[in-house]
Amino acid sequence: SAPISFYGTHQAGITTPAQDRLHFASFDLITKSRDDLIALLRAWSAAAAQMTAGHPAGATGAVDGHPAAPPDDTGEALDLPPGGLTLTIGFGPSMFDGRFGLADRKPAALAELPHFVGDALRPEISDGDLCVQACAYDPQVAVHAIRNLARIGFGKVSVRWSQLGFGRTSATTRDQVTPRNMMGFKDGTNNIKAEDTQLLDEHVWVPQGDGPAWMTGGSYMVTRRIRMTIETWDRTSLAEQEGVIGRTKKAGAPMHATGEFDELDFEAKGPDGKPATPMDAHVRLAHHTQAKGARILRRGYNFADGSDGLGRLDAGLFFIAYQRDPRTGFVPIQQNLGGDALNEYIRHVGSGLFACPPGVAGPGGFWGEGLF
Ligand code: HEM
Repeated sequence: SAPISFYGTHQAGITTPAQDRLHFASFDLITKSRDDLIALLRAWSAAAAQMTAGHPAGATGAVDGHPAAPPDDTGEALDLPPGGLTLTIGFGPSMFDGRFGLADRKPAALAELPHFVGDALRPEISDGDLCVQACAYDPQVAVHAIRNLARIGFGKVSVRWSQLGFGRTSATTRDQVTPRNMMGFKDGTNNIKAEDTQLLDEHVWVPQGDGPAWMTGGSYMVTRRIRMTIETWDRTSLAEQEGVIGRTKKAGAPMHATGEFDELDFEAKGPDGKPATPMDAHVRLAHHTQAKGARILRRGYNFADGSDGLGRLDAGLFFIAYQRDPRTGFVPIQQNLGGDALNEYIRHVGSGLFACPPGVAGPGGFWGEGLF
């Protein structure tokens, strides 16, 4: 497939048709120098432009540098196509804590997330000063990109945590087939799609006048590592599973309908006279009509990181959502999900919140330049 341009009004990797693979990395800044931070963002942006175009990072790439020096690029993506690689950067609340003279530029929308019912968050796989979401059709391309950004940042940043993902759990365009998550259900049916330009403007992109000017055209990203208790889920009946989600497993249709894209009708009754979509079903509680009008663009990935030492699969959903303001997006939905039937089968163990600046206009520009 053709490379996806690094440059544009918005960063790529948000409404870009969701690729199959993810390598997501969160970094801590170990430098205290503002100039170092700017130099890092410049170097990362230049490397990101090269790698997303399918070229190696650095001036001399993997094999054309001086034989006595370590190569500019690690080389494992040589001979591979660009693989639809997108790199999307985000800035965490902690970057604005005063170390870099940015405290007065912190957007109000980057307020720490509140505690949610059932949170079992582990600090070592949460938060971070910066993050980069690398998505591609080839896992080697995504891993190569993060590895080279980490290498370029040596001495300025260290990787705090990272997450590999596969099997996108969201469709972000209408022509994509809706994929399935690790519970076997179609995920992304009622997502905001790239074609919904009005919804994107209302709920995903930060408009002018909404907080600091440097975020205009950007978006806020929330990540949650959600572990599934797969073995319990797998012993649950099909009818129970469908009731928990509030959609049929085969077609992904509403419980009262047959087609995946038929409208949800929360008033509809089943043959027993009870609501066809149970009152505590996930799709009911997550729906914008039930959650203060909140809408988000979901762009998550499945993960399976082997077993946990007790013979259980360490698997679930690496949830990623983009929105204009988490205080009116993720937060009210997640609060509403406090009563979600799904909670019996999942546990949120990692969390991240990041401000994703607008896109880089062209060569010479850099990620977040409006901040400085
Ligand atoms: C819908 C699964 C966590 C927000 C759905 C659907 C499934 C699903 C199968 C129906 C298909 C669709 O419309 O995409 C899951 C699983 C989760 C999870 C397995 C955890 C492991 C979350 C979280 C949020 C969320 C944490 C946000 C706080 C939504 C929204 C919808 C949805 C907004 C669309 C509802 C609608 O408008 O119809 N989810 N989800 N989900 N989910 Fe989740």
